[in-house]
Amino acid sequence: MTFDPVPFFEPDSSDAPFSSLDLNRMPVHIGCVMDGNGRWAQKRGLPRTDGHAAGEAALMDTIYGCLEVGVRWLTVYAFSTENWRRPIDEVRFLMNFNESLLLRRKDELDQQGVRIRFSGRRDWRVPRKVLKRMDESAIQTAKNDKLTLTIAFNYGGRAEIIDAVRSLINSGIKASDVNEKSISKFLYHPEAPDPDLVVRTSGEYRISNFLLWEIAYSELVFTDVLWPDFRREDLYKAIYEFQGRNRRYGKVRE
Ligand code: IPE
Ligand code: IPE
Ligand code: MG
Repeated sequence: MTFDPVPFFEPDSSDAPFSSLDLNRMPVHIGCVMDGNGRWAQKRGLPRTDGHAAGEAALMDTIYGCLEVGVRWLTVYAFSTENWRRPIDEVRFLMNFNESLLLRRKDELDQQGVRIRFSGRRDWRVPRKVLKRMDESAIQTAKNDKLTLTIAFNYGGRAEIIDAVRSLINSGIKASDVNEKSISKFLYHPEAPDPDLVVRTSGEYRISNFLLWEIAYSELVFTDVLWPDFRREDLYKAIYEFQGRNRRYGKVRE
C-alpha cells in the first residue's frame, strides 16, 4: 500500500482572491464534508484510495485558507461511523492514511498555530496506533489558538447524540432539567461554537450524519468540486455565498 506523499508547500497569501470577502463577517466555525475522493480517482482510472491520498492537498490548502482569512474553527469529516461498511482494503487504507497524515503534518500544523483534536468514538475498531497518533497530535498542539482543527473520525452525529444522552442520564439529571443547554454540555466538544457554515463537496446534497445537533442553524453550501480538487479559492467562494445569506433563526427579518 504505497502512495506518493503530497509535498509540503508554503502558505501563499499574495494572490489568493479574498478581496470580495467581508473580513468583518467571517464565519467563526466552518464544517467540511470532504466528499468525492473515490470519483476523483475513478475519473482518472486510478484506485479509489489514490483519491483519498490526493485529498491531503485539499485539506492543507483549506486549513491555510482558514488561517489566512481568520476562521477560528474548522471541523472536517474524515471517517464516518458508516464508512466501516466499505471494502476492508479501503477501510484499512483510510486508517493508515489518516495516521500517516498526522505524522507528516503535525509539526507543520503546530508551527502554524493549529490546535488539532478529534471528534468521534474511540471504539475497538480504530487501530491502537491510530489512536496513539491522534493523542500525540492533540497533546502536541493543545496550546495553539489560531485555528482549532477538529477531525471527525469514526464520527456519527447520531452516535454523538446517543453518547451525550447516555452521559446525561449517568449524571443523574432530572427529566425536567433536560434541555438544549444540558444536552449540549455532553456533546464531544461542548465549548465549540455551532458551525456557521457547512460546505459539502462532490455535488451530493445531504449531510450524511455530520454534526446533526450542531448544524440546526448552519448555512449549507454545496459545490460540485470533488474534494481532491478543492482549494482555498473554493472555500472563499463558499464563504462569499454564506455572506450573502440572511440568517433569521426563525425570526422575521429586521
Ligand atoms: C470521501 O470521499 C472520503 C470518505 C468518505 C472517507 P469518498 O470516498 O466518499 O468518495 P466518493 O463519494 O465515493 O466519490
Ligand atoms: C460522508 O461521505 C463521510 C465523509 C466525508 C467522511 P460519504 O461518501 O460516506 O457519504 P454518503 O455515503 O455519500 O452519504
Ligand atoms: Mg462519498
